[in-house]
Amino acid sequence: MKKTVKDVEVQGKKALVRVDFNVPLKNGEVADDARIRGALPTIRYLIENGAGVILCSHLGRPKGKPDDALRMDPVARRLSELLGAEVKKLDDCIGEAVNRAKAELKPGGVLMLENTRFHDGEKANDDGFAAQLAQGVDLFVNDAFGAAHRAHGSTEGVARLLPAVSGLLMAREIEVLERLVANPAPPVVAIFGGAKISDKIGVLERFLQKADTLMIGGAMANTFFLAKGLEIGESLAETDSLETAGEILEKGGDRLMLPVDVVVAESPDLPDGRRTVAVDAVPAGWKILDIGPETVKRFSDGLKSAGTVVWNGPMGMFEKSPFDEGTRAVAEILAELDAETYIGGGDSGSAVKQAGAVDKMTHVSTGGGAFLEYLEGRTLPGVAALEDA
Ligand code: 3PG
Repeated sequence: MKKTVKDVEVQGKKALVRVDFNVPLKNGEVADDARIRGALPTIRYLIENGAGVILCSHLGRPKGKPDDALRMDPVARRLSELLGAEVKKLDDCIGEAVNRAKAELKPGGVLMLENTRFHDGEKANDDGFAAQLAQGVDLFVNDAFGAAHRAHGSTEGVARLLPAVSGLLMAREIEVLERLVANPAPPVVAIFGGAKISDKIGVLERFLQKADTLMIGGAMANTFFLAKGLEIGESLAETDSLETAGEILEKGGDRLMLPVDVVVAESPDLPDGRRTVAVDAVPAGWKILDIGPETVKRFSDGLKSAGTVVWNGPMGMFEKSPFDEGTRAVAEILAELDAETYIGGGDSGSAVKQAGAVDKMTHVSTGGGAFLEYLEGRTLPGVAALEDA
């Protein structure tokens, strides 16, 4: 158990709050504000209890220097709308101007620093960079569960320099996921999708031990098809993960459910020509872009008796309609279950939101990679660095 903002005096303090506002943008505006909404309770708590709030986050993966497309301005605008209060956006996260703004910050005021990844020191977890972030600050609050698996300057480095506690979103994520790991109601079904097996080997291995059924979709399934000797045309796959895929197939046996039919097209840009085919009938040169209806039905049947369902990763090319149908179908199926349902990852979370089913799930995590690493049993450096309760 870590201390939270509620365990320390915040009145009159200047709090540096690390949030995970790494949100999808579209046409320069925030396309999904779930992570911003997730941090509101902590921000409101600090404002209402007389702290000055200095928010910082990364956004995207800039290469240690400013990138105009990844500035925090749209995020600050959206936050200001949601809070109904002014959010003063700064053009850097460290330096003279930032220090001046911190000095002038009044209790109840909110500053939003610029993208922390505009500086090399962030990813390098450089002490000098962390010291500059900590300058003029009394308290560090980490509410960035989504970035807690990164040992960066603004997540881990700064926590070593200041009194450091968890925010309310972080505390809730850990509490819920702890329960899931310790005591899942059986039978446990895990659904994994997304592009790469290599990103998810740890969690796949873990769930091979823990889950009664593992359902696989998304481009990840293509690598399993290849390992089984099937033709996948021009579909995305990881040829260097074939051995791993073979081992997982062997260990998983009947507990592993792969798609039986898939939606294919010559290109994602030619959706009108798409076809549904059996997995052993993918035309040469075509691409697998979604799971098919028979697969959805089999997954649905397999989920009916589940006590706990864990889902991460899209079943197809979710960002490109109509190849989002399989992913949406999974969200709709989960919404109707009596089981406990835990969802992690941006696309799965968006599908749940679009299905209007957020309230029907036990937990929709704001984490993707952090959610997986936590379930894998790994220590999250952003959490480990906080003070114990
Ligand atoms: C995420 O979206 O998973 C987190 O914000 C971490 O982002 P990263 O993978 O670029 O470190």
